[in-house]
Amino acid sequence: MLPQEFLYQLKQANPIDQVMGSYVRLVRAGSLLKCQCPFHSEKTPSCVVYANTQDPHFYCFGCHAGGDVITFLMKIEGLSYMDAVQMLAERAGMQMPQQELDNGEGKRRTRLLELNRAAARWFYEQLTGSDKRGLIYLKERQLKPEIIRKYGLGFAPESWSGLADAMRRLGYTDKELIDANLCSVSKNGTLYDRFRNRVMFPIFDLRGSVIAFGGRTIVPGGEPKYLNSSDTLVFKKGRNLFSMNFAKKSQSKRLILAEGYMDVIAIHQGGFENVVASLGTALTPDQCRLMRQYAEEVVISYDSDAAGQNATLKAVNLLRAAGLRPRILHMHDAKDPDEYIKKFGPGRFRLLLEEADDAVSYELQRCRDGTDPASEDGTITALHRAVSVLADIENELERNVYLSRTAKEYDISPEILNTQVEREIKKRRAGQKKQVWRAVTAAGMMRDPVNPEAASHRKEAKAEEMILCYLFRNPDALEQVLAQIAPEDFVTGLNRRIYAALAEKLTAGYPFSLSLFNDSFSPDEMGHITGIFSKNADITVSEQSVRDCIAVLKDHPQTAVNPESLSDEDFSASFDRLRQKKKSN
Ligand code: UTP
Ligand code: MN
Repeated sequence: MLPQEFLYQLKQANPIDQVMGSYVRLVRAGSLLKCQCPFHSEKTPSCVVYANTQDPHFYCFGCHAGGDVITFLMKIEGLSYMDAVQMLAERAGMQMPQQELDNGEGKRRTRLLELNRAAARWFYEQLTGSDKRGLIYLKERQLKPEIIRKYGLGFAPESWSGLADAMRRLGYTDKELIDANLCSVSKNGTLYDRFRNRVMFPIFDLRGSVIAFGGRTIVPGGEPKYLNSSDTLVFKKGRNLFSMNFAKKSQSKRLILAEGYMDVIAIHQGGFENVVASLGTALTPDQCRLMRQYAEEVVISYDSDAAGQNATLKAVNLLRAAGLRPRILHMHDAKDPDEYIKKFGPGRFRLLLEEADDAVSYELQRCRDGTDPASEDGTITALHRAVSVLADIENELERNVYLSRTAKEYDISPEILNTQVEREIKKRRAGQKKQVWRAVTAAGMMRDPVNPEAASHRKEAKAEEMILCYLFRNPDALEQVLAQIAPEDFVTGLNRRIYAALAEKLTAGYPFSLSLFNDSFSPDEMGHITGIFSKNADITVSEQSVRDCIAVLKDHPQTAVNPESLSDEDFSASFDRLRQKKKSN
């Protein structure tokens, strides 16, 4: 357990708005700060940051994530409690209390990051070593020395142990080399360098730490063309974007999304810093949310081949879901942006950016793909697809613009096309209603993962939360409340634990703070606790209503089934009963 005094200073030195501000874009809303929640997809900000209160915290009214600055870091970086504390201590230049210094994942993470940095430096030095093939390769690809330096590009020579030997000399262990995914072990047990004969692309996180590598073979036809780090303690590939560390500085509300490392660097060299790429995988929702923190519009600049175009359609949907406005760049006579800029120069590429289509036009054009425009069948297929694209457009005015354009293009009456589109929209609404209904009924039956018992004890759970909320605001009343109700009388498991922990900490003399719960509750549970605090912010809980809530819990029969203690058969039987009851209602 860390000393309270240390935790207090740690939080003073790491204001929640500053720390969160380096991950998300905070906007002022009256006396509060808001942001788009980084933990779920949304278009309007529903994550509120209470920075100037005695107990600074955040709470998302959409997905119920919440907690203090430590919880935030645990969630966004996927860290344990101790590691999050250590990271904040480092950020503020504070010493960790002695007993915590030598243990834990935090230390391993720091070591891995240091190892990655040392490896990147070594790869960089190899460019000018005895084997110059890496440098020659990069020069042939027309990269200027400044950009090579800026991206920290390097070279992994032909050796099986060049890197390992150099890193061992710096004091890194074989285990650390394996953990960093820089080396592997062969069947007969020897350690070998994974990256050989490759130009190296270090991958930086937003703070500029080297977290992983991509390596392109310089051997013609070498397989795989690109070798990437697998996930490690410090790297989750679906969560990072190549070159985001530079792009975030560009202050542009527009990002360019490319497919490959070389495209990004060529575009950047052409004068566009606001360019990123996903890392050797298809684009993920997490990556889209990351982009949404900095930008409003994304110009997709994927390869012009079929694979690139299919990936474009998928990216359009993902970007939209994250609340970004996708546009699509069209290239002719070049397979990717790298080649385009080489052939035609950055000026022409800027024109392409300006002319990039909005996503709807792009999708409408794609409706013709694989159909024969001369045949009736082909036209009908394409029209059906177009109806579906048009039905997707939520804004009526916008829909009408595209509708009349499409009618003209296919030479049919706008009224007829409109009838089709309206019918499609109605059909979808009906489908959606069904889906929502299904989700609602399922949610009623589903066990809340954080507090499973709440589903079958709604009234009691609500009463418990009112009591907790009252105590959060009136910690002095603890003794009085404890005299009336013991933790064992709480019905749902999580609330019982919260009440017990609160009683323990307050009795031990700690002043109340949400952070009291940090070390014994998970980040998801912290969201629940913060929710009790934030959701009821505008309600005054009177002493009388606390007494009523206590009565609710006292009335509750103690023999109630506890789902945790049920066997699987019993559980499914009670589940069936519940379903029957629902049906008959
Ligand atoms: P491309 O094959 O289009 O690469 O793959 P590129 O960037 O145009 O490569 P050059 O110009 O031939 O050097 C696009 C991206 O897909 C991932 C890489 O991130 C690459 O930049 N990829 C590709 C891999 O991860 N592994 C592979 O074997 C190939
Ligand atoms: Mn390419």
